[in-house]
Amino acid sequence: MIIIKAGGSAITMKDKPYTLDETAMHHTAKQLVQIKEPVILIHGVGSYGHPPAKQYQIGLGYDGSLERVWGLMLTHYWVDELSQRFTRVLLDHELLALRCRPTTLFVTDQRRIVQFNKEPLDRFLKMNILPVLHGDGPADRSQGFCVLSGDQIAVYLAKIYKARKVIFGMDVPGILKSGRPVGHVRYDELLSFSKYIKDNEDASGGLAKKLQEIAALKSERIPVQLVSLHNPDDLLRAVNDQTAGTLID
Ligand SMILES: Nc1ncnc2c1ncn2[C@@H]1O[C@H](COP(=O)(O)OP(=O)(O)OP(=O)(O)O)[C@@H](O)[C@H]1O
Ligand SMILES: [Mg+2]
Repeated sequence: MIIIKAGGSAITMKDKPYTLDETAMHHTAKQLVQIKEPVILIHGVGSYGHPPAKQYQIGLGYDGSLERVWGLMLTHYWVDELSQRFTRVLLDHELLALRCRPTTLFVTDQRRIVQFNKEPLDRFLKMNILPVLHGDGPADRSQGFCVLSGDQIAVYLAKIYKARKVIFGMDVPGILKSGRPVGHVRYDELLSFSKYIKDNEDASGGLAKKLQEIAALKSERIPVQLVSLHNPDDLLRAVNDQTAGTLID
């Protein structure tokens, strides 16, 4: 099993609200077609999900105001739109892609996944269906609802399914240090790379938070590779354990 997160930084134009990067979507789809093992695909929300999530501060959860709940509605609406458009591209490449809404699969508590309804994914995977999940705004036991990042979902599922590898596709080729990708990072030194991150303060914490999530895979000994989805073959290179972007192990 390989867990692939197609970052919102790649499949949308992060600095242009509600704008797709269809080229990156097609690159991703073309490579997914060639993978010969089970995959769960999770995509980020990029410039569809982060702007409304930030504007209405939905990450803070339910506060009794209509405005906050309205923000949750709008965020769900725009993430659905992005997910539909991406899934359309996947279907055009004849992938058996099926959207599986995380809000109906997961419940969180204090923004961490505490409940997962595994049966639908298990059954779909048995039929060689490619489940497509995404960052979402699920129900949260402590705060009503929250922002659940695709990164947290990817790491959670990697543990549950004992993935062979987790691959994060982004708009840049891995962790950059002075503008150049770092080829190899050991889990022990991962968090020290946070100092090279210029954060963009998106609704789910950007690259710094991604590295924190990834750090939890150390004990599972699951390697992670961060690659660019703007390069047409980096995803496949990572699947085939070839050099591309940043390998974390
Ligand atoms: N040192 C760095 N190395 C690599 N990327 C960096 C660095 N510092 C900042 N970044 C930014 O981090 C971004 C990746 O994190 P971000 O959360 O924005 O993307 P994503 O997870 O793909 O998107 P989404 O959260 O929508 O899924 C890159 O687009 C890059 O601009
Ligand atoms: Mg992110």
